[in-house]
Amino acid sequence: MKIVFASHNQNKTKEIRSVLPQGIELLTLNDLNCFEEIPENEPTIEGNSAFKANWVFNHFGMPCFADDTGLEVRALNGAPGVHSARYADETTNDEANMHKLLEALKPFSDRTAQFKTVITFRDQHREIQFTGVISGQIGTSKRGEFGFGYDPIFIPEDAAQTFAEMTLLQKNKFSHRARAMAQFLEFLAEHT
Ligand code: IMP
Repeated sequence: MKIVFASHNQNKTKEIRSVLPQGIELLTLNDLNCFEEIPENEPTIEGNSAFKANWVFNHFGMPCFADDTGLEVRALNGAPGVHSARYADETTNDEANMHKLLEALKPFSDRTAQFKTVITFRDQHREIQFTGVISGQIGTSKRGEFGFGYDPIFIPEDAAQTFAEMTLLQKNKFSHRARAMAQFLEFLAEHT
């Protein structure tokens, strides 16, 4: 089965490939010679995820799925949430985003947060979403060299390391994306 992943993000693609079973061929937007940025202007993570999957289905007519992810921090009333990519400015700069978050959390002792990934699958029959969540804590400084995005400051529950101190295999045991993917793969196994 060929399925399109509606993303240009190499890090997400790597994580998703690492959990795909044999028999599913993953195509990225680059494989389809699509280099356009898909707009992410919806007010929710669910909305952005659905928009991206529908955008790709409407352009290419192939079964596809999209991932939209946000980091929700309790003391900041769920921010940066749907604005995680452009929290500090419009440039989607990971370093600036982490710096802004660490500064914003300085007055608070509660550093509880969660990552949420919403995967939307779209084909000619249906549109369906799968949500994966992992709770944890925002560290007080960056640690680790692996991963991407906010990984150096996120410590998942029941772990001592940040996601950026974990190998891909270890991150997959906890991560929001791996949890959403597990549900999606179960669905695919039942429906294809
Ligand atoms: P988006 O889903 O590509 O819009 O990602 C939103 C923001 O969350 C971006 O700043 C990403 O770098 C960040 N992000 C997405 N997934 C992860 C992850 O697994 N770990 C850390 N940061 C992530």
